[in-house]
Amino acid sequence: MYSNKDKKSLTELSKNLLKGDTSLFPEAPEKQAADLQKVLVFHEHQYYVLNNPLISDFEYDQLFKKLEAIEKAHPELISSDSPTQRVSNDLTERFNTVPHTVPMLSLNNSYNAEDLKDFDESIKKLCLLPEDMEIEYVVEPKFDGGSIALIYEDDQLVRGATRGNGVKGDEMTANARVIRSVPLKAEFSKHGIQKAEMRGEVVIRKDVFEKMNKERLKKGLEPFANPRNTASGGLRMKDPKEASQRGLVAFLYTIGYAADKDGNDMIPSFRTHEKSMQVLGELGFKVPGESHKLCKNIEEAAAFCAEWEAKRESYEYEIDGMVVKVNDIALQEKAGFTSHHPRWAMAYKFKAKQATTKLINVEYQVGKVGAITPVAKLEPVALAGVTIRSVSLHNEEFITERDLHLGDTVLVERAGDVIPYIVKAMKDLRDGSETKIKFPTNCPSCDTVLAKPEGEAKWQCTNYDCEAQVLQRAIHHISKDAMNIDGFGKSYVERFYELGLIKSLADIYRLDYEKIAALEGFGEKSAMNLKSAIEKAKQQPIHRLLYSLSVHHLGKKVSQMLAQNIDHVLDLQSWSLETFIDIKDIGPKVAENVVQFFSDEKNIALLKEMESLGVNLTQMDDDKVKAVNEDGPLFGKTILFTGKLQIMGRKEAQEKAIAAGAQNVSSVSGNLNILVVGEKAGSKLKKAQALGTVEIYTEEEFLSILDG
Ligand code: IVH
Repeated sequence: MYSNKDKKSLTELSKNLLKGDTSLFPEAPEKQAADLQKVLVFHEHQYYVLNNPLISDFEYDQLFKKLEAIEKAHPELISSDSPTQRVSNDLTERFNTVPHTVPMLSLNNSYNAEDLKDFDESIKKLCLLPEDMEIEYVVEPKFDGGSIALIYEDDQLVRGATRGNGVKGDEMTANARVIRSVPLKAEFSKHGIQKAEMRGEVVIRKDVFEKMNKERLKKGLEPFANPRNTASGGLRMKDPKEASQRGLVAFLYTIGYAADKDGNDMIPSFRTHEKSMQVLGELGFKVPGESHKLCKNIEEAAAFCAEWEAKRESYEYEIDGMVVKVNDIALQEKAGFTSHHPRWAMAYKFKAKQATTKLINVEYQVGKVGAITPVAKLEPVALAGVTIRSVSLHNEEFITERDLHLGDTVLVERAGDVIPYIVKAMKDLRDGSETKIKFPTNCPSCDTVLAKPEGEAKWQCTNYDCEAQVLQRAIHHISKDAMNIDGFGKSYVERFYELGLIKSLADIYRLDYEKIAALEGFGEKSAMNLKSAIEKAKQQPIHRLLYSLSVHHLGKKVSQMLAQNIDHVLDLQSWSLETFIDIKDIGPKVAENVVQFFSDEKNIALLKEMESLGVNLTQMDDDKVKAVNEDGPLFGKTILFTGKLQIMGRKEAQEKAIAAGAQNVSSVSGNLNILVVGEKAGSKLKKAQALGTVEIYTEEEFLSILDG
């Protein structure tokens, strides 16, 4: 229906419309309304028909709101086929289409306390209430799943349907009947009700979803993408048995229709939304219950929304916002409906977790041990409350697997506290001007030819004296987990490095404080503070010094273990690979790197130089720290990673596991507790499945366990 060229220009137009670049529309508002209608129809097609959205939900909402605003100011511009004149469509051909008793509308969206304040004012205007009157609101989670409508007649569940296009839905009574939280019988007659239509949202608990995916993995099935699609897809299963296995839960959030035997409207008899929900609860339905709040005014409602936005990740269901509803049903009836949404309810949408933006450039960072990390520079974009300008691309494979090109429009995601990352490139939007990303063959800092040692995910600069590496090592050396030099930040190191004050780690301990005091922005006092912090750091225990040296693969835990086995750092000069075998949990790779480091004369000279400058190289009581994190979530467990990991390197994953108290092992046996599977996992996964005693996790699940 749309060519790639159309897609490109419509997306471009969407972006301009989002920026509110009115100068592009000299004939506004007619042209603007027409453009907005055109792009919204296009994005709806991409989303609902092709299942391939090219913009985020947030951006779609913004466009929709703009069109609504223009149409409100110029009602003559509303056409019957404007996207504002209908609710979205999820009808499928496989089911019988049935009409809803009353339309199943959408919700209007708001994004902050100010929007809610406007909503409150609009209700007062609509209902001719005094400005200073306080309206009571019920606030409840906006569940993110699939909507359903349930009809009860003479206390019996007689029909279940999806929302469909809001006027008609797909009949799915058989699937509704397998949802345990949907009562097959409910005593509406006790309230004089003969026929009622309940509205709600079908969802899956996050932990049930994860367990289900684990089971699927064990059976060799593809895991489901997310709880939302699994729930709404569950409603549309041909076979109710399959629907029954999805752990579906239905939350009821409103009574759409209720009538006595003579057809009289019974909803007003409940007086308030709060009361009607309480009655539904008593009749056996699942209602927001504990997660809702009756608020005495809009300020309290806004505060409750903000409170939930902060804790959304820890809630057992996925929610994409809150819904603020006028509590008084008489007031609801006065406010009424538009063709799109009730005027008495408002969704408070949480900040977007996904956004689209342009990949402008890729920069290559050189790490402290020479690992090259590609970093994408993006057109700045707001995402879940922060502006994202760059994201890590991890390694070359990450780029090739996603087939990322310079100039691509990319989908960026940030979930919870997770660092933002690129989900995919929107390939449909390419116009041919995009260029392939060429991974460098030489170090961007010192031009040494890059190498890729076996088992490493990243290309490496092997020149130990590479300027970029020296700088990164100095930054690592002073950092919190290493020598922890108070008040000595990364920017200071960079500045001193530029000025030639730091050329090696030893230079940190012989800084010219007079020179520093004379630098712009410094002065006597801060130079002296820095001096005393550095003097203090000289006495750090040797496990910190070992870690601060940036020996490849030598992490904090192994540094601690090593420290406990030596009296003086230079003792390590006499260690061979065999010496390491006696220390449990130190792998051959770390051993190899430590041996190599301490057999290099330059490093020994550096350490001796540091010692002569007063840095402690002798073991102290502080080094006798517990090597294993007994408080970690994985304490006492053995763990093995298999297959190709997507988010982190194997080594990084193993280090994370150790930090969480786990012990890495190399094979699947009866002793193995946890197997984390990446892509193309082979015999190890099969063996673990056959054992049946191993907990099997995806990489994401592993990370979420670490997050607690
Ligand atoms: S009230 C006439 N309350 O959000 C009443 N809707 O865009 C309109 N939703 O798919 C809906 N949780 O299924 C309402 N607590 C809640 C909700 C909720 C989720 C869904 C609803 C619809 C969408 C509205």
